[in-house]
Amino acid sequence: MKYLISAGPTREKIDPVRFLSNRSSGKMGYALATAAQQAGHDVTLVSGPVNLTHPAGVKVIPVESAAEMAEAVKSEAENADVIIMSAAVADYRPVEVHGDKLKKSDGKLVIELERTEDILASLGQNKKSGQLLVGFAAETRDVIKYAQDKLKKKNLDWIVANDVSRSDRGFASDSNAATMISADGQKMDLPLQSKSKLAKQIISILSTKNKNSV
Ligand code: PMT
Repeated sequence: MKYLISAGPTREKIDPVRFLSNRSSGKMGYALATAAQQAGHDVTLVSGPVNLTHPAGVKVIPVESAAEMAEAVKSEAENADVIIMSAAVADYRPVEVHGDKLKKSDGKLVIELERTEDILASLGQNKKSGQLLVGFAAETRDVIKYAQDKLKKKNLDWIVANDVSRSDRGFASDSNAATMISADGQKMDLPLQSKSKLAKQIISILSTKNKNSV
């Protein structure tokens, strides 16, 4: 099976030396890519800027911005049987990217932001027959409720909900816990464990529990 996985943050440029980003380390996405590859799948990983070694046997496409990630993911999605979006894609980017370093002055600086493309929602609108689309939901409260909203709104088959309000899981941590929820009503709590073990569990569930037995 062909797996397409996204990982890491995106960077949205303000000027040549500054950008907007988030705390994603890429560890969850790289662990998923490794687990899928070790389970015998053909894996492509679209990765934002991270400090991790490329997983062995995985095709890695490095990107920086949300727009670059959208382009790479949408082009690779054509041939993917399973798509897992674990990247923390920026929801907003600066309207204007300054060609020179912004000079500081007295008073406030206002940066106008515009929405980036919601890659997962676009994939959900153009889902191929038999394709399995899996999103992540990073939430700090009402985790399950918001995850269920995203599952439905983005036309996903599964969502992996994780609580990112705690330091022992979520962003940048070596461990994570999650609840997997499917469009057909399955719900599984995956306890706190290393991201590597959690990734193996997620890949195994996706292989056995979905209607197409991917
Ligand atoms: O990288 P680590 O340090 O290991 O941390 C892992 C993680 C916390 C980043 C990961 O487990 C996780 O939760 N990833 C999703 C982060 C996120 O952006 O969640 P969200 O709830 O804001 O987005 C929902 C889904 O839409 C995600 O699948 C996201 O990839 C996708 N999305 C979001 C915005 C956007 N413009 N396009 C998207 O496709």
